[in-house]
Amino acid sequence: MTKIAPSILSADFAILGQEIRDVEQGGADYIHVDVMDGHFVPNITIGPLIVEAIKPVTKLPLDVHLMIENPDAYIQQFAAAGASIITVHQEACVHLHRTLQLIKKSGVKPGVVLNPATPAEMIKEVLRDVDLVLIMTVNPGFGGQSFIHQAVNKIEKIAEWRKELGLSFEIEVDGGVNTETAKLCTDAGADVLVAGSAVFKKSDRNQAMDDILTAAKG
Ligand code: DX5
Ligand code: ZN
Repeated sequence: MTKIAPSILSADFAILGQEIRDVEQGGADYIHVDVMDGHFVPNITIGPLIVEAIKPVTKLPLDVHLMIENPDAYIQQFAAAGASIITVHQEACVHLHRTLQLIKKSGVKPGVVLNPATPAEMIKEVLRDVDLVLIMTVNPGFGGQSFIHQAVNKIEKIAEWRKELGLSFEIEVDGGVNTETAKLCTDAGADVLVAGSAVFKKSDRNQAMDDILTAAKG
């Protein structure tokens, strides 16, 4: 069954706890937390302090998407703050295998992310070391951007490799996911759909998530 991970980037930060409870009650599977440093991406958002603050608010796994340079320096802090999954960008990691091991050693599930312009081949050698592969379908940095269709074939490729290698990591898609694009992702092999604006910008979040998941089934 397809999972949904609302991205709190599009939530109302003045009432963040309430926003998280709202999507948890509405059926969310993960809470997607977008961490941006103003260097790797042109925006600054959330740090470990916010992750720590929202941890007691929800039973859902916190899916922490690090869009930062030098993630190794912050992994322990995010783990201690309560992250359940930490994903790092291939483009930000010179020693990707080492970074993924560091996440695992911190007691957190490791995941790897690819920007739209990065080929799937760049992570083939670490597929055995991850619990999740995140395919970006926008250039990271902001919510509310349009879905980049060229990235869909990467979902297919990763799903094929997962089968060939007998692995069981989840494939997650992030960026521009809504009722129009959800099915493209699940048809290609995605298991988890991240949705920011398509959930939080709607008044009925339960309905918004149901609509996306229904559309994903086609
Ligand atoms: C983009 C973030 C996404 C973003 C998705 O840099 O990684 O998680 O919040 O927002 P939407 O669903 O609005 O594209
Ligand atoms: Zn994200």
